[in-house]
Amino acid sequence: MNTGVVLVVGGAGYIGSHMVKYLREAGREVVVLDNLSSGYRDAVAGVPLVEGDMGDRAVLDVLFQRYAVDAVMHFAGYIEVGESVRDPGKYYRNNVSHTLELLDAMVRHGVDKLIFSSTAAVYGEPCYKPIDESHPREPINPYGRSKQMVEAILADYERAHGLRSVSLRYFNAAGADPEGELAERHDPETHLIPIILEAAAGKRPHIAVYGRDYPTADGTCVRDYVHVQDLCRAHLLALEHLRQGAASAAFNLGNGGGFSVQQVIDVAREVTGQPIAVVDEARREGDPAVLVADATAAREVLGWQPVHDRLEPIIEHAWKAGQEILYQDFE
Ligand code: UFG
Repeated sequence: MNTGVVLVVGGAGYIGSHMVKYLREAGREVVVLDNLSSGYRDAVAGVPLVEGDMGDRAVLDVLFQRYAVDAVMHFAGYIEVGESVRDPGKYYRNNVSHTLELLDAMVRHGVDKLIFSSTAAVYGEPCYKPIDESHPREPINPYGRSKQMVEAILADYERAHGLRSVSLRYFNAAGADPEGELAERHDPETHLIPIILEAAAGKRPHIAVYGRDYPTADGTCVRDYVHVQDLCRAHLLALEHLRQGAASAAFNLGNGGGFSVQQVIDVAREVTGQPIAVVDEARREGDPAVLVADATAAREVLGWQPVHDRLEPIIEHAWKAGQEILYQDFE
């Protein structure tokens, strides 16, 4: 099969860099576009990297002229909910406006397949659970709205330009490369599992639990953690789906099972052998009690089957990668 080059935008970031490794192991040719605002050059060592912004028309034109790009995977979004509330312009400018530049460049250069990193945040407060794709989409913060806007734009671009896309709505992306070559590296880090592991590694004094008064079994919030490698597998399946001529679609990506904050802490204690100090704090604004995916459509239409549906491998791999890449200074 002639597969052409896959352009991975945001390929030096957390999920993007795992995708790049995954694609290369699957024998695909890859080029990365990343402005390195939150990505790391060493995460794409040995991979063609165009250092630039997806909002930069000139950079895009040179890139598309130089590489025979057949499809684009777009991971270059800002992802922090709290920051999006404080600074919405940053989110709409990058996540929406710069994405438009990318889409227009694809149209100019005849590239008609896109896999877009969307999010469970497009749904807002859950009306029922688990959440399927027909759940109302009423995001409660600019981050979620920016992703929802792009999904709407993509539908219009398919009608107008024949640009087909799959939007993948991740629930809680977690874990890391089992070989420990790539890690989740956000600065600042706001996500639960890396923060717990930083506490285990002595990089933080404790983990703060935001609320124990939720209507869940142990009072802490429940989330659907999905291994980054399972996300990567879904992206490749989505790309094959488009290559076979499918129309645009959106799919949830999650395991369909939830784990509470306390359960995550307990498993992290087992995996790391560290006590991990906990401090109880007030609820964090905007956190729904339970967010769990119904990912039946991804299973049925894409043939996606997550391999890591337990917390242990997710935390083991994140811990291993952290030790290889993140925690050396603290030993
Ligand atoms: N939590 C803590 N302490 C921490 C960090 C998090 O108790 O130090 C709790 C949160 O309150 C939440 C759970 O751990 O209940 C998970 O929090 P994360 O920040 O790891 O993840 P979120 O569920 O808030 O966010 C994720 C993605 C977002 C996406 C959202 C979709 O990271 O990008 O799901 O709703 F928008």
